[in-house]
Amino acid sequence: MSAPDAADVVRGRFEPGATEPLIFELGHPGRANTYFPNARALEEFLPAQTLRPDLPLPDNSELDVIRHYTRLSQRNFSIDTGFYPLGSCTMKYNPRVNDAMANLPGFRDLHPFAPDELAQGALALMYDLERYLAAIFGMAQFSLNPAAGAHAELAALLIAKAYFAKKGEGAARTTVIVPDTAHGTNPASAAMVGYKVVSLQSDARGRVGVDAIKAVLGPDTAVCMMTNPNTLGLFEDHILEIARAVHAAGGLMYYDGANANALMGNARPGDMGFDLMHLNTHKTFSIPHGGGGAGHGPVGVAAHLVDFLPTPVVRKTGDRYALDFDRPESIGPMRSFWSNFAHAVRGFTYILANGGDGLTKVSQLAVLNANYVRVKVREFLDTPYDEICRHEFVASAQELKRETGVRALDLAKALLDHGFHAPTMYFPLLVPECLMIEPTETESKETLDAFVAALRSIVEQAKRDPQAVLAAPTTTVVGRVDETRAAREPDLRWKAPA
Ligand SMILES: Cc1ncc(COP(=O)(O)O)c(C=O)c1O
Repeated sequence: MSAPDAADVVRGRFEPGATEPLIFELGHPGRANTYFPNARALEEFLPAQTLRPDLPLPDNSELDVIRHYTRLSQRNFSIDTGFYPLGSCTMKYNPRVNDAMANLPGFRDLHPFAPDELAQGALALMYDLERYLAAIFGMAQFSLNPAAGAHAELAALLIAKAYFAKKGEGAARTTVIVPDTAHGTNPASAAMVGYKVVSLQSDARGRVGVDAIKAVLGPDTAVCMMTNPNTLGLFEDHILEIARAVHAAGGLMYYDGANANALMGNARPGDMGFDLMHLNTHKTFSIPHGGGGAGHGPVGVAAHLVDFLPTPVVRKTGDRYALDFDRPESIGPMRSFWSNFAHAVRGFTYILANGGDGLTKVSQLAVLNANYVRVKVREFLDTPYDEICRHEFVASAQELKRETGVRALDLAKALLDHGFHAPTMYFPLLVPECLMIEPTETESKETLDAFVAALRSIVEQAKRDPQAVLAAPTTTVVGRVDETRAAREPDLRWKAPA
């Protein structure tokens, strides 16, 4: 294999179109650092059947490895390098104090098999975090066990199944109602548990109508899954009547708390009549997330469902803490050991650092920022649900597309050239050419103004010179890719040069 030119590697790292060589291509036989004089070759540690002559193990110096991965990391867009208004994903700043606490040796080095007596501090943290979440969201109890939002949805629906089975209604309660504004994970989770999904169309105000829900409720209704504020950024203002109707039909109300950044400290799902809920602590409580990384999805329940929560739960007796696995009605563990414990530490730190009043202010500022951007964006793009929003709002490029051929996707790509991550696109599905913008509370007025100015200039350019926008991005390392081909014909294998 021929080694890439070192000067090119250095020069080309940020240039559009430049490619980073693979780690194999950067290596040379004998280059790897040897830290022990009699060190054995790496191959000796691996079972023979895992080794392939056509795929040699990379032989690189430590410095080459560090530089390679650092260069790759610098090609990524990140919340630490730029504004990331990805709707429904709450890409807020993750305070470094969270990491400092998660890295305290007593937490970081704790063995997952440590007996309870040696893990009192960690158990106390989990116990207190659970109590805080229950108080903030008005639920009887949470489990910190699920590892992400979708995982917690699955847990909640398994709890609902167990609950109806115990009541003798397991065979009758077969449907889950999901509004068309819901995240795709909602119907997917319901289907995974074996429920039939009943999709509910939003009304002209972008909300679930009371009559519409009454029309689909029946003795087969198990759960109604709602996100509030919904993914249009709108508060479901008939939520109390909806909850009453679902309960009157014998069903359970499920709260998708991915948007909790909009109401934390200001309103509680428990008070709205929800029986089950999940949180994306990785969003609301500022834990690095995205790219499929580790998440944290506590699932909370009202008093009548506590016995079904996943195992284990932390029990406090006097001033001692212990993991309780002896819960005969539990749905069982969703995740091994203590789940993503380091994330529990981060979320806990965030709550303590802000305090109750601070959390209230966080969501108020998130709502203020979203409305600030919304009223500016509506000067040059349609905002279909034109009213005060919560923490996010949707704009539509449909009219622009008709006029110029420039779509939401093209605006999103062009934003990269201005140094901004794209908003969420084409979701929720009911808004054509949708851009879903969530600024979060951690952004300054200057950043929001710069984002609006960039979006405005792209829209103006689309009217003057649509081809220029269609060609974007032109300043990024990877330009416009064929997304369909990339998805349908991914070519991910490394091949040795002929
Ligand atoms: C509204 C909503 N619900 C559920 C989820 C699923 O959460 P997770 O990605 O942690 O599985 C998301 C994630 O983006 C979401 O936005």
